[in-house]
Amino acid sequence: MSAVRIGPYTLQNALILAPMAGVTDQPFRQLCRRMGAGLVVSEMVSSDMSLWNSRKSRLRMIHDGDPEPRSVQIAGGDAQMLAAAARANVEAGAQIIDINMGCPAKKVCNKAAGSALLKDEALVNEILQAVVAAVDVPVTLKIRTGWDRDNKNGLTVAKIAEQAGIQALAVHGRTRADLYTGDAEYDTIAAIKQAVSIPVFANGDITSPHKARQVLDATGADGLLIGRAAQGRPWIFREVEHYLRTGELLPAPQLAEVERILLEHLAALHAFYGDVMGVRIARKHVGWYLATLPGAKAFRARFNGLDETHAQCADVRAFFREREQSLETEDGQGVAA
Ligand SMILES: Cc1cc2nc3c(=O)[nH]c(=O)nc-3n(C[C@H](O)[C@H](O)[C@H](O)COP(=O)(O)O)c2cc1C
Repeated sequence: MSAVRIGPYTLQNALILAPMAGVTDQPFRQLCRRMGAGLVVSEMVSSDMSLWNSRKSRLRMIHDGDPEPRSVQIAGGDAQMLAAAARANVEAGAQIIDINMGCPAKKVCNKAAGSALLKDEALVNEILQAVVAAVDVPVTLKIRTGWDRDNKNGLTVAKIAEQAGIQALAVHGRTRADLYTGDAEYDTIAAIKQAVSIPVFANGDITSPHKARQVLDATGADGLLIGRAAQGRPWIFREVEHYLRTGELLPAPQLAEVERILLEHLAALHAFYGDVMGVRIARKHVGWYLATLPGAKAFRARFNGLDETHAQCADVRAFFREREQSLETEDGQGVAA
């Protein structure tokens, strides 16, 4: 992969943490950057500024200490509201504005936003023109391949985007109607890459270094967005980066490193959200980290009943001690046998 530029910014590498509402909060974004992501995108912020006073929205707009460039995603269906939201986010520290036309979530689509916008190309054009004109930072766009399989207008939307001054495009290889079902397809992304000269990032179902290589080869894309595969596995970025650069696979992280990363992540969640909300939000992340380890199910049932920060940390430590002890026993048996 050669270096990718978005406006004045040259990315450290071309691997981006995909925006995920409820997941890519500041603690997770900073962790993924430390683990090798070249860029991270914040959770979407609604263009309806009357909602910005809620605690949830305020937390989404904190960027202190985030590595540059700071990319903030906005979502909505009204060009002038999106333009105003873009301006306000730039004033609050955003260095790249990303527009969400890729999310099928009902809450967004009921207001004709997210990927529902793909149906109305004139409105897409109006929104993109208005947001690009409103700010003097690069504006990027995230789309799906189209509205549904009979209306895969991703290529047309990509051309509209380039014409409007969008500086990079991320394409999730599913239509809006697909939701998250079936496998992502990459032919439409390849066609889009051929048709525009702005950087194109491929997205959808990239779960391993090998898959990353395959998707880059199949699409010719300039880079990749990785979403769900980073949940509980933020080191996927260093694994993919290393493989793409060297052709060699890094060994999986040792248990001790997983424990250290998870405890750091927990501490960051507790500090960022405060004790009550932090404990709640930590549960899903901890579940993701441990999902593939033996004993995780019983641990989760116990862990999800804890409501103190220090109890959560102690329980995670105890889980890893148990795992290490049982590995030592297994090793010992192996030697004896
Ligand atoms: C929990 C969750 C929340 C998401 N929120 C957003 C969002 O706020 N904005 C957006 O553009 N896409 C959102 N997405 C879509 C992802 O950015 C990405 O396009 C999708 O998950 C496919 O990539 P993956 O297979 O690597 O996960 C979300 C996905 C998930 C699973």
